[in-house]
This record gives sequence, structure tokens and C-alpha cells, in this order.
Amino acid sequence: MPAKVVVIGSLNMDLVTRAERLPRAGETLIGESFATVSGGKGANQAVASARLGAEVSMVGCVGADVYGEQLRAALLAEQIDCRAVTTVGGSSGVALIVVDDSSQNAIVIVAGANGLLTPEVVTGFDAVLQAADVIICQLEVPMQTVGYTLKRGRELGKTMILNPAPASSPLAADWYSSIDYLIPNESEASALSGLPVDSLKTAEVAASRLIAAGAGKVIITLGAQGSLFANGQSFEHFPALKVKAVDTTAAGDTFVGGFASALAGGKSEAEAIRFGQIAAALSVTRAGAQPSIPTLSDVQAISPS
Ligand code: RIB
Repeated sequence: MPAKVVVIGSLNMDLVTRAERLPRAGETLIGESFATVSGGKGANQAVASARLGAEVSMVGCVGADVYGEQLRAALLAEQIDCRAVTTVGGSSGVALIVVDDSSQNAIVIVAGANGLLTPEVVTGFDAVLQAADVIICQLEVPMQTVGYTLKRGRELGKTMILNPAPASSPLAADWYSSIDYLIPNESEASALSGLPVDSLKTAEVAASRLIAAGAGKVIITLGAQGSLFANGQSFEHFPALKVKAVDTTAAGDTFVGGFASALAGGKSEAEAIRFGQIAAALSVTRAGAQPSIPTLSDVQAISPS
């Protein structure tokens, strides 16, 4: 039986423009291309978990619009169980994304239907949480819902992963004891800890602070500098694979989904981190959010174990 990953989070339609560079305030640039691509941190992590070996259920909300239908269809095409994806009134979530020629991006999201994923909606799908081995949350849905899910998952004894993205301020203090793996990037680790994070050394200091706050283990993703793992006793640095980046959108989501599916499937933490890193490295060589996420055989072609 494949391991079961449940993702509680957002589904967005990404409206993606490529341009030579990101626009400055007040500036109009001529773009090079435009595409609508299925995305949203929750849905991307669900797709990554499914393509990378897990059985996946998604809990989320889409609008009663064409984007909602397309976002659901994209997950169903990956054999993701969408019975807990609720169609609510109004618009689906969208993300306005500009990707520049050096593969950097700038993103503005509008929550739309994601804002209607309330704790009451999640309560209605408690059986889905009960069936999980690993539960993943992010921060593109209401904070009360994330807080509720973390506590419920902890009560059920599930392995709880929080990818605190996007983050601009510290987390609620009472969330930490329900988090087994906290997986921020540099800027999120900085927002959560109140400390600068721009190197391995500063990441160690921030990770220690987040563990002191109550998180079980912390993995800070550092882009080209790899990842830092902290468990409260020691640190381990996992160097990044060198690739030619085309688009970094959803690289973090691919890491989280890859890590979760490998961990749920019985791999060690170190193996799961390396697996997530290979998957994320492959994703940055391809454009778009969900289209960029590799399959298990893509990863095994690089690392057969
Ligand atoms: O992490 C990438 C995702 O962030 C995009 O797919 C976009 O929808 C935003 O949620």
C-alpha cells in the first residue's frame, strides 16, 4: 500500500508572464509570453506528493468558475482524491506571476475561494485526516484553519508538516508543539524567527530559535546553498544539486511534496531530504508550477535508490 499524504491548502490558477526583468514600481514592461498554469502551494504539494510516489488526498476550496473546474481536473489527472475539494461560490484563487530571464519570480496571490476553507469545512472531512500518514499545511488558507488542522492532526497522532509560506510575521506560539517538521525558506525562516537568514550559520541560529519555540525538527531551504536540517541536537547541511534554472516557481512545493512522500514511504529523514532536493532541482529546469514537477522515475533516473 502506498503511503498516504493529505494536503490541506490552496489551489490557484497561475497567470504567468515572462519578461526580461521584473518591473519597477510604476513601470510598464513589454512581456515575452503569457500562460495560465495550475498552481497554488497546496495543490502543487499534492501533485508533487502524488507524482513522487504517495497516495494523496487534497482538502481545499475552488470557486464556481472555469478555473475551479480546471484546477480540480489537474489534480484528478494525477489520481489525487478530490472528494474533499469543495466548490464554493465566487472566484477561484489566482496568482499573478512574473518570471524574469534570470529565473527569479515575483508573485501576488488573491485568495478567492481559498479564503473559504474554514475549520468547519475541514471538520467535515475528518475521515480524510484520520486516513493520513502525513499531513501537510501551508499558509495560503485562513490561519484559523491551519491552527485547527495542526491541532487535530496532533490529536490523531499524524506526522505534521508545516510549510510556512507565504510568511511575513511569527507563527502563533501555540502551533509549534503540533509541528513535527517545519519547512521554511530563508525569508520565511527570517520572518518566523525575527533573525536575518542568509547563510548556513544564520540558518542554524534561526532553526535553533524555532526549535526552542517548540517545533519538532526544522528544515530551512536555502536555494543554491542547499538545505539545513536541525533536530535540536545537531545540524546537517545538504548541499544543493547544480542545475541551470529556468523557473523556480514551485521548487519549494516540490521539495515539500517529495520530502513528505519519501518520509511517509519509510525513508529516513536524510534520504527524504535528498530525494526532495533532487525533485526540486529538476523542477527548476522546467517552466510553470505543476507542469514543472517531476515524476518518481525522473528522480530515480538521477538517484536510483
Ligand atoms: O509556490 C508557488 C505557488 O505560489 C504558485 O503556484 C502560486 O499559485 C503561489 O501560490
